[in-house]
Amino acid sequence: MRPIEQRALQAYREQFLAEPILVASAPGRVNLIGEHTDYNGGFVLPCAIGKRVAIAIGLSQSTLFYSADFEERCPLLEKREGSWADYPSGIVRAMKDRGFDIQHVRCAFAGDVPLGSGLSSSAAIEAATAIALDALFHLEIEKRDLAVLCQHAENAFVGVNSGIMDQYASLLCQAGTALLVDCRSLEARQVPLNLAEAHLALLVCDTHVSRELGATGYNERRQACERAAHILDVKDLRDAHLDDLDKLSSEDRKRATHVVTENARVLQAVLALQRQDFGAFGRLMYASHRSLRDDYEVSTPELDAFVEIAIQTSALGARLTGAGFGGCAIALVRSEDTGVLTMNVRHYFEARGFKQPEFFSFHPETGAEVVK
Ligand code: GLA
Repeated sequence: MRPIEQRALQAYREQFLAEPILVASAPGRVNLIGEHTDYNGGFVLPCAIGKRVAIAIGLSQSTLFYSADFEERCPLLEKREGSWADYPSGIVRAMKDRGFDIQHVRCAFAGDVPLGSGLSSSAAIEAATAIALDALFHLEIEKRDLAVLCQHAENAFVGVNSGIMDQYASLLCQAGTALLVDCRSLEARQVPLNLAEAHLALLVCDTHVSRELGATGYNERRQACERAAHILDVKDLRDAHLDDLDKLSSEDRKRATHVVTENARVLQAVLALQRQDFGAFGRLMYASHRSLRDDYEVSTPELDAFVEIAIQTSALGARLTGAGFGGCAIALVRSEDTGVLTMNVRHYFEARGFKQPEFFSFHPETGAEVVK
């Protein structure tokens, strides 16, 4: 069992003075490329990271959630409260709404996915709850259906209009691979990512810039995409071509340009990974960042600075990851260069008066699983 799963187990024992029936966990994610494409019916390429939310679960007289991180108990919520308990409540309700026979449970949660950093701590708690309930009540729901259920819970109960990427990544990713998802057909395919063999590392930089204002920006971007698809008379922007975009207003044209070019980059990135051409893969990451900065306009000075310093440090590629408006950036670097890149970024951020960033390297991890 991983330490975080031990913590959830221990919290359950202490809170409920009993043994749980099972322990499960689900990871956060980093998206390698394919940003703001999921809600446009396009492609994404995320990986699971080694930071997870764990759950210990057992039967009970009435449903009760405990968070070891917030040291707080909470009953099953009727409606959104703006707290961590929204997520498990949303999942229980979504399962009941679909007619699954869910009895009362008590759960203890523990997690080490940073909150509000764009690493999908919310998808991780949703996926962990969903996989634990599925196993406990022998529901045998397929992981991709669990992901769709989690997304519905997030949209309907939590009230965030996100796409399918985060929940898919948390449930379906596997160790050593990235996950190519066609967000229209919902087909997913593992793409091997042998970084260690190539002496490469993926470095994540958490800029610690809160993404709170991002919710408005995210919804605005979604609306611009829907407007553009409507004007172009296509189902989703996935179906648009660069030549068609002249019909759009200048702002909508920029947004659509990002989506159309980003979708193409994801498919090229997968081909690059298949031929182990990490140089080409990295160039696509840089191109993705420029597009997110100039056309989609979701970058920040901190994220741009990280990418500039990555270029100067000869990283193979770098880009913001997740929704943008703060949060994290990633770089693909030679393993021996991670130290110098983090040092250069720290110095620059300090000199500019930015918040001190946090770094971690990761290898693609296993998705949601029951561990005990
Ligand atoms: C957030 C959303 C995802 C996706 C990304 C942008 O992480 O939850 O569905 O839209 O932003 O790629």
